[in-house]
Amino acid sequence: MRPTGADRIATFGTSVFTEMSALAVAHQAINLGQGFPDFAGPDFVKDAAADAIRGDMNQYAPSHGTPRLRNAIAADWARRFGREIDPDREVTVTTGATEALFISMLAFVNPGDEVVFFEPFYDAYVPQVVMAGGIPKVVRLNPPDWSFDPDGLRAVVGPNTRLLLLNTPHNPTGKVFNRLEIEQVAAVCREHDVLVLADEVYDRILFDGHEHIPISTLPDMWERTLTLNSTGKTFSMTGWKVGYMIGPGEMNAAIRTVHQFNVFATATPFQEAMAVALETAGERGYYQELADNYALRRDRLRAVLADAGLPPLNCQGSYFLLSEIDHLGFETDVDFCRSLVMEHGVAAIPPSAFYLDPASAPLQARFCFAKEFSTIDAAAERLIGLHTQHS
Ligand SMILES: Cc1ncc(COP(=O)(O)O)c(C=O)c1O
Repeated sequence: MRPTGADRIATFGTSVFTEMSALAVAHQAINLGQGFPDFAGPDFVKDAAADAIRGDMNQYAPSHGTPRLRNAIAADWARRFGREIDPDREVTVTTGATEALFISMLAFVNPGDEVVFFEPFYDAYVPQVVMAGGIPKVVRLNPPDWSFDPDGLRAVVGPNTRLLLLNTPHNPTGKVFNRLEIEQVAAVCREHDVLVLADEVYDRILFDGHEHIPISTLPDMWERTLTLNSTGKTFSMTGWKVGYMIGPGEMNAAIRTVHQFNVFATATPFQEAMAVALETAGERGYYQELADNYALRRDRLRAVLADAGLPPLNCQGSYFLLSEIDHLGFETDVDFCRSLVMEHGVAAIPPSAFYLDPASAPLQARFCFAKEFSTIDAAAERLIGLHTQHS
């Protein structure tokens, strides 16, 4: 019998996330693995969605997004970064950032084209590049500060590079790329005429005065960059899957061509609610509150992990902490995470899944702090004794 799946999916298999989630359920674990908040998003956004549903905004939206949401996205960008955006040509609403990434691969990558990104990377990047027929190429970020070698970047980008993906603030490391680093990336992209996909889904979750610098705001970068975002991260409604892309008209036209035959449109009432969210969040002080609140959660989890003998690395943005586990005697991070969930009832993610060659990954574990303080405290209780048990 022929294999059931097409050749293009033959190498993907079941992800370690699926295994860890199943183990977490089986062992009634506290889930600090998967990256989503276990607390409710803001009432004013929920109310706006409920109003939209009751107000019968329940049919297909225009394919590239409702005018109200596109206007709100354009106004938000203009307020923050001082560039006037044309909401009709330069903004497209997508079904989460995941769809934004995927339609970009299909819209820009020809079979055999190379797509460059930093390693460790968000896990969807590789399968998406491969499904588009592209070839993933990575540049290593080096712990503990996750810096990269600019010559290493230059060595990887070349005539076959079509696209560079830059994720900042970065999942899973919590790194916020600084101006010098972003300039180095931009220079290489200009030099080799490479398009840029800027994954900025954690752009409002920043700590300790770190600044978010969109690569599209650097000289001569607007014309070659599509910036993608996820209102799910900013407004703690990951299940609504409302994302968006901002960039030059020609690049938007290309992704819209794919988007119309992929999902056609994103859920109408949730677009309406996210328009209300973006229109009013600033004056409500929501963004400051979001970052302040996440800083407290980060600090709480950091202390818990340190007490448990799992020293966390610095986190400048996003909602993830990476802990060192190389002193605990486990062969792989997957072994450690299995043991953590089965013996201690706490789920984490093994970051080797974020490397092209998992065996080359440093021994670490990823913990998500988008959690209630009570969840973090409950995890602390379960982690008591871990240190002495494994040292
Ligand atoms: C770096 C990064 N990009 C994209 C996404 C996908 O976002 P969405 O849930 O809007 O599809 C995530 C979600 O975890 C992410 O961490």
